[in-house]
Amino acid sequence: MNRSANDGNNITTMKGLVFHGPNSLALEDRLKPTIIQATDAIVRITTTTICGTDLHILKGDVPAITDGRILGHEGVGIIEEVGTNVLDFHKGDRVLISLITSCGRCIFCKKAMYSHCLNGGWRLGNSIDGTQAEYVRIPFADTGLYLLPPEADDEAVVMLSCILPTGLECGVLNGQVKPGDIVAIIGAGPVGLATLLTAQLYSPAEIIMIDLDDNRLEAARSFGATKVVNSSDGKAAERVMALTQAAGVDVVIEAVGLSAAFDICQAIIAPGGRIANVGVHGKSVEFHLERLWASNITLTTRLVDAGTTSMLLKMVQSGRLDAKKLVSHRFNLSEIMKAYNTFANAAKQHSLKVVIKNA
Ligand SMILES: NC(=O)c1ccc[n+]([C@@H]2O[C@H](COP(=O)([O-])OP(=O)(O)OC[C@H]3O[C@@H](n4cnc5c(N)ncnc54)[C@H](O)[C@@H]3O)[C@@H](O)[C@H]2O)c1
Ligand SMILES: [Zn+2]
Ligand SMILES: [Zn+2]
Repeated sequence: MNRSANDGNNITTMKGLVFHGPNSLALEDRLKPTIIQATDAIVRITTTTICGTDLHILKGDVPAITDGRILGHEGVGIIEEVGTNVLDFHKGDRVLISLITSCGRCIFCKKAMYSHCLNGGWRLGNSIDGTQAEYVRIPFADTGLYLLPPEADDEAVVMLSCILPTGLECGVLNGQVKPGDIVAIIGAGPVGLATLLTAQLYSPAEIIMIDLDDNRLEAARSFGATKVVNSSDGKAAERVMALTQAAGVDVVIEAVGLSAAFDICQAIIAPGGRIANVGVHGKSVEFHLERLWASNITLTTRLVDAGTTSMLLKMVQSGRLDAKKLVSHRFNLSEIMKAYNTFANAAKQHSLKVVIKNA
């Protein structure tokens, strides 16, 4: 079909990045989404990006995701159409899409655990088609979208769909980062770096960043890490213990999703410390209760609720949080396979967050 993305409602097909099982992705023509529920909106995506979670999906770590699903849970775009029960948004509004779909009314929404919404949760690019496409259907548009001011920068704002709320909620808030704490963050990918940026809002004394990739560790240093440790020699735990005079760290945040990283957390946590897991784990890990039973530690896990999105948006808009510096590469949607390759081979490509634009 001969068409362009600007044909508005006349378009019936669109491009979308379709998952066909582990290590199999293709940019394909798909039917453009339509309103199904009166609370839905259809958004034309202007900017999207790739999450470490998409890489886990590709590896087969999230088996619930089935063949044929359009991936992506991050995006900024323009509303194309709204259902009759969408009250706060209109055609033409420029919006940020939250990765979390929430009805606002169920028992979990009422406890502010939006990620466990009985009618939603993390659905985009998971149980429904996602944002790595020209168009996406957003259920419960009134709760899942944020109106953007005209001056908002797509590239900065798209960091609020997932990684900044994730770093803040699952890492910093669950880890209860406090003034004067010694914090370690394992994984200097975009989520680890978002954790680093938001941890600084709570004035820890030290933030030690641990990764295998010197380029990402250098970025971490420029974003405010006080110390960096390359863990490729398997000696990260010894190094962190030496850096802390054998005391260990008050808070350790796992932003990788591999047992090797979780092992480091357990080896460096100080008595009374908090381990906050952020990473998506596809395999079981060993929990060393034989060592930790007497250590008074707290272990937390969390799927991001995205309850902090409005607050973070204000911080980005005021210039207090420089989200745009997380972006290292830019692609068009037609080049999305190259974008995945660049993000998945971060050490070689020197990539942080890669953004994908719809012309
Ligand atoms: N809990 C949630 O709600 C939630 C939300 C979003 C993302 N996540 C997860 O957060 C994690 C990080 O996401 P990302 O986008 O930054 O991913 P990413 O893949 O870009 O980054 C992961 C980083 O971990 C590093 N790493 C790998 N093995 C390591 C090891 N043994 N020791 C130290 N570092 C190691 C890699 O070099 C890389 O820089 C992923 O597991 C992702 O699925 C969780
Ligand atoms: Zn994500
Ligand atoms: Zn709900």
